[in-house]
Amino acid sequence: MKTISNEGAEAAEARATPAPDQLAPLAPLVHPGQPAFCFGVATAAYQIEGAAREGGRGASIWDTFSHTPGKTVNGDTGDVACDHYHRWREDLDLIAGLGVDAYRFSIAWPRVQPLGQGAWNQEGLAFYDRLVDGLLARGIQPHATLYHWDLPQALQDEGGWATRDTAHHFASYAEKMGRVLGDRLASLATHNEPWCTAFLGHQQGKFAPGLRDMRLATQVAHHLLLSHGLALQALRADGARVPLGIVLNQAPAHAASSSEADLAAAAANHRGFVGWFMDPLFHGRYPADAGEQRAPEVAAGDMACIQQPLDWLGINYYTRNWCSTSQPPVPAPRLQGVNDMGWEIYPEGLLEMLLHNHAHYRLPPVYITENGMAEADVLHAGAVRDPRRIGYVRSHLQALAQARAQGVDLRGYFYWSLMDNYEWDSGYAKRFGLVHVDYATQQRTLKDSAHWYRDTIAALRAQPGARLATEAGRG
Ligand code: FCB
Repeated sequence: MKTISNEGAEAAEARATPAPDQLAPLAPLVHPGQPAFCFGVATAAYQIEGAAREGGRGASIWDTFSHTPGKTVNGDTGDVACDHYHRWREDLDLIAGLGVDAYRFSIAWPRVQPLGQGAWNQEGLAFYDRLVDGLLARGIQPHATLYHWDLPQALQDEGGWATRDTAHHFASYAEKMGRVLGDRLASLATHNEPWCTAFLGHQQGKFAPGLRDMRLATQVAHHLLLSHGLALQALRADGARVPLGIVLNQAPAHAASSSEADLAAAAANHRGFVGWFMDPLFHGRYPADAGEQRAPEVAAGDMACIQQPLDWLGINYYTRNWCSTSQPPVPAPRLQGVNDMGWEIYPEGLLEMLLHNHAHYRLPPVYITENGMAEADVLHAGAVRDPRRIGYVRSHLQALAQARAQGVDLRGYFYWSLMDNYEWDSGYAKRFGLVHVDYATQQRTLKDSAHWYRDTIAALRAQPGARLATEAGRG
């Protein structure tokens, strides 16, 4: 069944063509004097695959969490999601149709190793094998993430990320995936947003496994970082040549006022959110004075292990962190509005974050591995009008062009997300996609923003002397 709708697409196309004055500020992204920059789209396994009990897949902590009453909006689960496990060919055609260079996806650990240790599931391995080959056949670089939050439930039953054993199991899983896919991947990331796994999952209870314990959360953060270091060591010892990295979510912390208390809160937020991961990865230590966050138990050799050289760093950026200690708190100004999640739109923060990192750490090449906005999109007469999303992407790409012009070695941008999908505890209520998904029929429809993204990429490539991602080869 053909599920891609083209109705209304012509009208959308006319509206989507980027004007020359909007293109000029983006020109540094394809400047011939700079390394190649890739444009991509991103997804994650649990958010799109569905087929939760098929193909030999084991259960993950998100299956357990989403099936626990009261944990997600409407009790939504990822059981079916976008049914990508069955519709992957059509979805790869969709990606190719956008004219992007690259696709970022994640591997569901319980699909390839149902218990998180021991036996491998050949059917699961074959799925990702076909996916990677399908991308390459369509001329799209595959960028894989090993852990986008779906820990095998069997490992959670033995303590999950609270135990060091899980870090060692993760390293074995990483090594295996390096062997199976490494020769064909453009990049491999260990973790996606370890802050979320640790603090949303183990301190705030908002994400799986739904625990609320600050000490445990900091210990989990340490084990995640340790697992990253162990994985890089195992992959490299095994001869993996694929560029290795990690993906962090980052936001600048802004004080609501110049009061001492607000300034201190912003400083603590910065150390707990950004520094807590950047300092161990690049400087081999945890920041002191991060508010309630206290350094975890660290065994001899851990910090050296965590500080493995990175081939690249991925940054996910959505908004800034606004810090107010007043009661009630002073809200952020929100001059550019908020997205459907209530997150403030603040593209300046992306430039600020990149320049901060550039000034404080010896960065490897950087990718923006996620950036995007949720909007209450409506499909009407075969089209989705989403001008605010177009504005969001344009302003963030402009921030990247500025960062590049100021010396940050940026190599690519992945829009989150390719298509509407299962937005964790928000279920299907929040739509981040460039492509609209009708969950009743699984019909995919390109939104105006998808047309705009495709046309902008094409127009940038047509700039005189433009340096294209494909010219750079892999990585
Ligand atoms: C990021 C996640 C991604 C998606 C976006 C909206 O934190 O990595 O899976 O949920 O937020």
